[in-house]
Amino acid sequence: METKIWLILFTTFLQCLSPLMAIKKVYIVHMSHHLKPPIYPTHRDWYSAHLQSLSVSDASLLYTYETAYHGFAVSLTPLQAGILLRSDSVLGVYEDTLYSLHTTRTPEFLGLDTHEGLWAGQTTQGLNTASGDVIIGVLDTGVWPESKSFDDSGLPPIPNRWLGVCESGPDFNQSSCNKKLIGARSFSKGYKMASGGSFMNNPKEIDSPRDYDGHGTHTASTAAGSHVTNASLLGYASGTARGMATRARLSAYKVCWKTGCFGSDILAGMDRAILDGVDVLSLSLGGGSAPYYHDTIAIGAFTAMEKGIFVSCSAGNSGPTKASLANTAPWIMTVGAGTLDRDFPAFAILGNKTRYTGVSLYSGKGMGTEPVPLVYGDRSNSSSNLCLPGSLDPDRVHGKVVLCDRGINPRVEKGAVVRDAGGVGMILANTAASGEELVADSHLLPAVAVGMKVGNRIRGYMKRAANPTAVLSFGGTVLNVRPSPVVAAFSSRGPNLVTPQILKPDVIGPGVNILAAWSEAVGPTGLDKDTRKTRFNIMSGTSMSCPHISGLAALLKAAHPDWSPSAIKSALMTTAYNQDNTKSPLQDAADGALSTPWAHGSGHVNPQKAMSPGLVYDISIDDYIAFLCSLDYTIDHVQAIIKNPNATCLRKFSDPGQLNYPSFSVMFGKSNVVRYTRELTNVGAARTLYRVAVDAPPVVGVKVRPTQLLFRSVGRRRSTQLRLSPIKGQFLLQERWRLAPLSGAVVKTK
Ligand SMILES: *[C@@H]1O[C@H](CO)[C@@H](O)[C@H](O)[C@H]1NC(C)=O
Ligand SMILES: *[C@@H]1O[C@H](CO)[C@@H](O)[C@H](O)[C@H]1NC(C)=O
Ligand SMILES: *[C@@H]1O[C@H](CO)[C@@H](O)[C@H](O)[C@H]1NC(C)=O
Ligand SMILES: *[C@@H]1O[C@H](CO)[C@@H](O)[C@H](O)[C@H]1NC(C)=O
Ligand SMILES: *[C@@H]1O[C@H](CO)[C@@H](O)[C@H](O)[C@H]1NC(C)=O
Repeated sequence: METKIWLILFTTFLQCLSPLMAIKKVYIVHMSHHLKPPIYPTHRDWYSAHLQSLSVSDASLLYTYETAYHGFAVSLTPLQAGILLRSDSVLGVYEDTLYSLHTTRTPEFLGLDTHEGLWAGQTTQGLNTASGDVIIGVLDTGVWPESKSFDDSGLPPIPNRWLGVCESGPDFNQSSCNKKLIGARSFSKGYKMASGGSFMNNPKEIDSPRDYDGHGTHTASTAAGSHVTNASLLGYASGTARGMATRARLSAYKVCWKTGCFGSDILAGMDRAILDGVDVLSLSLGGGSAPYYHDTIAIGAFTAMEKGIFVSCSAGNSGPTKASLANTAPWIMTVGAGTLDRDFPAFAILGNKTRYTGVSLYSGKGMGTEPVPLVYGDRSNSSSNLCLPGSLDPDRVHGKVVLCDRGINPRVEKGAVVRDAGGVGMILANTAASGEELVADSHLLPAVAVGMKVGNRIRGYMKRAANPTAVLSFGGTVLNVRPSPVVAAFSSRGPNLVTPQILKPDVIGPGVNILAAWSEAVGPTGLDKDTRKTRFNIMSGTSMSCPHISGLAALLKAAHPDWSPSAIKSALMTTAYNQDNTKSPLQDAADGALSTPWAHGSGHVNPQKAMSPGLVYDISIDDYIAFLCSLDYTIDHVQAIIKNPNATCLRKFSDPGQLNYPSFSVMFGKSNVVRYTRELTNVGAARTLYRVAVDAPPVVGVKVRPTQLLFRSVGRRRSTQLRLSPIKGQFLLQERWRLAPLSGAVVKTK
């Protein structure tokens, strides 16, 4: 007894003294919205009263959320957060989470991406005029409004229903917006609180929607940039740059800052974008995988979807590691990345006359044709293989080409390290971690990126040769590369750990070496010492593939204003293709082997086909609720997502895979047989007969009833029952089904 009392006193004593307990953190508080007593005129007043009872000042209340969430963000000590949770009207208190941008500039990130031109050119004939009524909200690092990609020539007046604004701030005011960029806001309270209350001492940060990073300008212009002729990055990828929906409107919501994007700021951006009246939300950012009720983006996206807004998110750049996906909620379009048919070859010619091919976006003065000594690593410093800052000895490197291993620090930084040590060139060689995937960068010195196999040959040559040498040269831009598309190695992979029954990613789109607009506040490499200014930049990542899909969704929305977000998603998924431009199944850049649905989902989007999918798998709000109820969440957790106090779990699916999803991921349990129902809606011609065509792997048995469906009118719904059973034992399987459309009363198969 005595011992116990002692323990309690002791811990209390520690808590009082512990500075950790006094440190404030940002929390997102989930409230029983409908329980607000009438004495409080607004929810904000009610939330303030809760905080007053804790002696917490109003200044700590960062945001009150109106639509994307029911609750508020507040800065509290952990002790205060614990007390707040005891209130009956408080359903949950969650620590703010940091999300990151999905580009390849961070070390883990591997991508290259090329865009525009051919691929974009086919997508939009005849459709773009209508897309002037569609508004795309981009949550990112802000926008560089002077970019020609945001020129509004020829656009009609802004739609009357638009409620957004162009917020004034440093280097940004109302005249920064126009009929293309119709809104711009910034959300920094969560970030400021996390960085000690202010970021004014950071010259690389600007407290307005202006983009000091480049990422947000790149993604916004990819989704809906206007035509810009004669665009290029330092001469690479030259041609006309354009977004997917060149006449759609853009609104920029700056929620990402130097250290990343805080959930409290993202939620505030989503909340505002929904109220402003966007039609599409594009988020090229994400975190890990969390249950949906604890995933800010999933929660905000549910409200958006409910209001008819299509939400497209990047799948992440943590591939080829399995189960590395972000943004997997079924009401979100989860976008992976593939290559374009464009390449930027560069060459390393060794002293023994063998020429190896890699990639590069180097554009300065060349090395000439004289072989130069080649060096790699230094026994005195184990960091020198990686060319980490400070690891290269200038006496050893001066006037030479340096071989650097990829990994740990950013690729472009390695180039800067070699240059600063007096090197004249760099061969950046992959290791097992990055395999054969090549990333082209606009290095500050002549540099060629090569795959692991070539890297190993060069490493071998250096061991054997008495005086190894190399000379580097550059091949510019090459088109019609085969095979393409290829799934990017960095593109995050399934299975979907949050709900394995939902196949993710949903689709892939162009995400390697994409040319789009750039911020003039930062050089193309993003390094402080890169003083070059470019209006366009080439970037890679699922950050780049996501806004392609956002733009395509805007085009579909313009063509089919009555389609729900789920119908648009279905159209993009069921018409996606699984063959590259050599008519072979899609390959995976990670290992050169065939790709799988865990890497490419339903396949690569095909914009033209998506315009007329014939049938769609539509999903109602009630279906999503029945899905959430099947996940063993508490009703409070379900409420955090659906925000409707009247909703119940009286209807729930026996298996989350019963959701009317346009793809299948089947988990065979003990019963070894899984039965699913799917409902198809005719969005094609009336009086159309469809016959089921099953394209399943040989290890699963599939039976479908009925085998054909007749749709007498447009909008008609018909159901099919599927029976799936493994042919050999138990395993996890994913497969997609295609229903081939047929016109008139003539029965055909695909
Ligand atoms: C807005 O910015 C533009 C360009 O920077 C400047 O010319 C103009 O005076 C500013 N307007 C206001 C109202 O501050
Ligand atoms: C295209 O851009 C390049 C480089 O910026 C410039 O030298 C050239 O004159 C431009 N061509 C046209 C047709 O504008
Ligand atoms: C090796 O390089 C690292 C930087 O990557 C540096 O901090 C360290 O001092 C170097 N060690 C020696 C022995 O030079
Ligand atoms: C040059 O060296 C590489 C690596 O050792 C080797 O694969 C290649 O065959 C050599 N080329 C010639 C022409 O000897
Ligand atoms: C819930 O039901 C009550 C009573 O029927 C109704 O007044 C209220 O508007 C409903 N709330 C929502 C969000 O549907």
